[in-house]
Order: sequence, then structure tokens, then C-alpha cells
Amino acid sequence: MTIMESQQTNKNNNTIILMVPFPAQGHLNQLLHLSRLMTTYNLPIHVITTTTHGRQATTRIPLSIPTIHFHHYPTPHFPSPQPDPNATIKFPTQLIPAFQSSMHLRQPFNELLSNLSRDAKRVVVIHDYLMGPVVQDVKLVDNVEAYMFSCCSAFASFCYMNEALAGKLKVDEELELLLKDVPSNDDCYTMDAWQFIASTDVSYKKFSSGTIYDASRVIEGKFIDLIQKEDDQKLWALGPFNPVEITQDSSHKRHKLFEWLDKQAPNSVLYVSFGTTTSISNEQIQELALGLEKSEQKFIWVLRDADKGDIFEGEVRKIELPKGFEERVGENGLVILDWAPQLEILGHPSTGGFMSHCGWNSSMEGMTMGVPIAAWPMHSDQPRNSMLITKVLNVGIYVRDWTQRKEMVSSKVIEDVVRRLMASNEGDEIRKRAAELGDRVRQSMANGGVTRLELDSFVAHVTR
Ligand SMILES: *[C@@H]1O[C@H](CO)[C@@H](O)[C@H](O)[C@H]1NC(C)=O
Ligand SMILES: *[C@@H]1O[C@H](CO)[C@@H](O)[C@H](O)[C@H]1NC(C)=O
Ligand SMILES: *[C@@H]1O[C@H](CO)[C@@H](O)[C@H](O)[C@H]1NC(C)=O
Repeated sequence: MTIMESQQTNKNNNTIILMVPFPAQGHLNQLLHLSRLMTTYNLPIHVITTTTHGRQATTRIPLSIPTIHFHHYPTPHFPSPQPDPNATIKFPTQLIPAFQSSMHLRQPFNELLSNLSRDAKRVVVIHDYLMGPVVQDVKLVDNVEAYMFSCCSAFASFCYMNEALAGKLKVDEELELLLKDVPSNDDCYTMDAWQFIASTDVSYKKFSSGTIYDASRVIEGKFIDLIQKEDDQKLWALGPFNPVEITQDSSHKRHKLFEWLDKQAPNSVLYVSFGTTTSISNEQIQELALGLEKSEQKFIWVLRDADKGDIFEGEVRKIELPKGFEERVGENGLVILDWAPQLEILGHPSTGGFMSHCGWNSSMEGMTMGVPIAAWPMHSDQPRNSMLITKVLNVGIYVRDWTQRKEMVSSKVIEDVVRRLMASNEGDEIRKRAAELGDRVRQSMANGGVTRLELDSFVAHVTR
């Protein structure tokens, strides 16, 4: 064989992974972390996204892995309005123009796919379920397989599936009872959001070779099995995608908050953050601040407004804390006004609780790090994730459940919930269960662990 021939053979043996994330932080983050996981199998990984969101990803998610190739394409300019903190429905409607704009990736995607597929044995496209319109032409290329990434919990997916089938799924008595209490979809999405979601429906099952979940059998085995029974598609539960160990990158400067966190007693600090899509009203912020103060528990509070469609454009709302709040709290708490290293905070031994909106990215991070959750769902699948956490897994308690979504949460309620989670026997029990779950999740990612084996099997399948 000549050198050229052997190069040719090598080239043709390659399986290439092409990731197509949806451009909202929680979604983007999950597929980038799946990319990181897949590089451990020495597969070339390509990621396609818009120029704006590629920049967002690189500033926020420090993944300097040379075998991940980013392809950024400009999309038509889109309006990037401020989030509305006073809206009664908390879905981040301000992001919809950015979502719509990303649908223009269809043509560059097709071109990139055709370039990549020319020299590969197979191109494996992994796309967010909302990116169906961008990848719908995959069936025109022979050596391409597409896998849909479902970014919600298996529990939420199972509930949606059960509703779509009008409650006809066969379940055991215990689950039947539980399903009676599943939070309603009312107010989870705005009309615009429903319309957008409907517009992405391209019957992906016609070209899909399977579905990937950021779910773990040690957390949601029962629901993964139930979905598998109903769905004729191949299914892989590959979660958690987020790292399960905090590695100290020496080139990376440690955030100054750790100077404070290092000094706190084990499990004594509550971490408060509502992710990147929650905008809460000034009144609610005042109540939350007073509640945290009155609880007399240590806390780190990430106080940021929700993202705009383009996070690099325009002003960010200035949020005011109650008068004298920071002086009164003193050494008892930290308020962080910008991006915080969430996973590292959750993995720190001093952190003993997480007040969260229960977005799936954050929920998985909390459970991986064995931290119990005070659940305050805001929109989308979050009410269902909250139910999974508080009622199914018993690794958290509600700040307020979905039936009370229209009411202001008073400082008194916040004070009580924080004390229950951080300073009561009930809280200690929940913390113990959360820690045990975290251990099992981290073990599942070690060699021979249940998720690691499933990743092995996925990679073996796509490189067959
Ligand atoms: C998701 O996870 C990353 C770290 O893996 C974290 O930095 C980020 O805050 C999380 N994003 C959201 C939207 O919660
Ligand atoms: C929200 O309501 C407050 C009054 O409660 C008002 O001061 C503020 O301007 C409103 N914000 C927006 C963006 O409408
Ligand atoms: C595909 O390859 C051609 C020729 O190498 C190149 O000019 C073009 O920019 C590539 N397109 C994409 C979308 O990568």
C-alpha cells in the first residue's frame, strides 16, 4: 500500500461527531459537556452554532480541548430585548428571536455536513430536539446518522409522553398515585413559546436513529425503562454530562469567592442561583434578601438578570438590594453579580444546600455533587424536575410548589425553608440522601460504572 492509499483508508475509517446545540445556555452547556465526554474516545468532534452563541459558549464554558472543532456562522441580526422581571409567566420570551435566528443554520449545516461526510466513514449528528429544522436534510446524505438529544429529565419526558397518550401508559399503583400530582403545564410556556416549539416540529423520528438523554439510570432508571418500553427508538442515558470531579486547572484563576467559602464549616453554606433564564421582580428580590438575612444561615447568592438573546449587546438591569443589606449580612453571605463557577461551588465541602429553579442542567449538577435542593421552579420543565427532586427522589424540599406560582414568596417562607434545609434534622436526613445519591452518580461515571458502560456502548454502536 502506498502512503497515499493508507492515508485514504485511515480517513475512510473515521467516524465524526457533529453536535448541533440549541443556543440557550442550559442546552448549549449540556451538548458541549457531552462533546467533552466523547473526546475521551478519541473521536473528532465538530460543533456548529451561531457566531454569537459560539462566543457565549467560549466565554462561559472553559473547554480548551483541541479535538473539538467549532464552526461558527453568522445569522441574520435579531432583536435582543431586555427580560421582563414583572411578567407573570416566567418563560424567557426575550430569547425567542435568537432561537428563530438560529434556524438559519440549516444551509451552513448542510454544507458542513457535505464537507465532513466526504472523507468520513460516517458522520454522527447529535442535535438538540429543538434544532430539528436545521438538521432535517440529513437523510439526503448516505453516510450520516442523526441522534436526537432530549435535554429534559426522563421524568419530565415520561410525563409529557403520558399526556400525549392521554394517560394510557401502563404504570404501577405507586406511580399512578404520583402522576395524579404532576404539576400542570399551565403558565410553563407563553403563547409565543408554544408557537416556536411547534414550528420546530419536523417529525424528526423519520430521520432519527435514536435518542440521547442527559439522564442517569442511577437517578431515573424507572422512568428511562418506561420510556424505552413505549418508544421504538433506540435510547441512551448518558448523563450526567457535566464533570463529576472538580479538577483544578492551574492556568485558571480561582474565583475570589473561594477565599470566603474555604473558611466556612462543612455543609454550612446555601448556594442560591436561578440560572440564566429567570428574571425576578424587584419586590421578590427584596423578600428573598430579607428571608436569607433572617434565616441567619450562610449563603452565596448569584444575583443576575436573565440572559438576553445576545448577551454581548445592550445594558444589563441593575438590581438593588434592600438598604443596608450587605452591611447587616457582613461575613455571613456573599452576593455575586456576575457569572459564578457553579459546579465548583456545588462541589465544595462547605456547600450544604442549593436553592434552585431546577433547570435540568442545574439539577444534574446539584445531584452529582450530592447537594440537597430547595426547589423554586419558574417555567418550562422546571416544575416537573422539582417534583422529581422533592417527591420522587426525596433529595430536596419545595420553596413553593407550582400551585402557588402566582403568589409572591414572602421573606417568612424563605426564612423557614432555608432553616428547614440548612439547620434541622429533616434537612440533615435529606442532605444524607442527597450525598448518597451523589456518590452513586459519580461512581456511575467511573470505568465499569453504569453510565460509562452505556457511553461505551453508544460509541461502539456509532463506530461499528
Ligand atoms: C450549567 O453548567 C455549567 C457548568 O457545567 C455552569 O457553569 C452553568 O452555570 C450552568 N448553566 C445554567 C444555565 O444553569
Ligand atoms: C416592574 O415593576 C416595577 C414596579 O413594581 C417598576 O418600577 C419597573 O419599572 C417594572 N419593570 C419593567 C421592566 O417593566
Ligand atoms: C466546504 O468546503 C469548501 C471547500 O473546501 C469550503 O470552501 C467551504 O467553506 C466549506 N463549507 C463549510 C460550511 O464548511
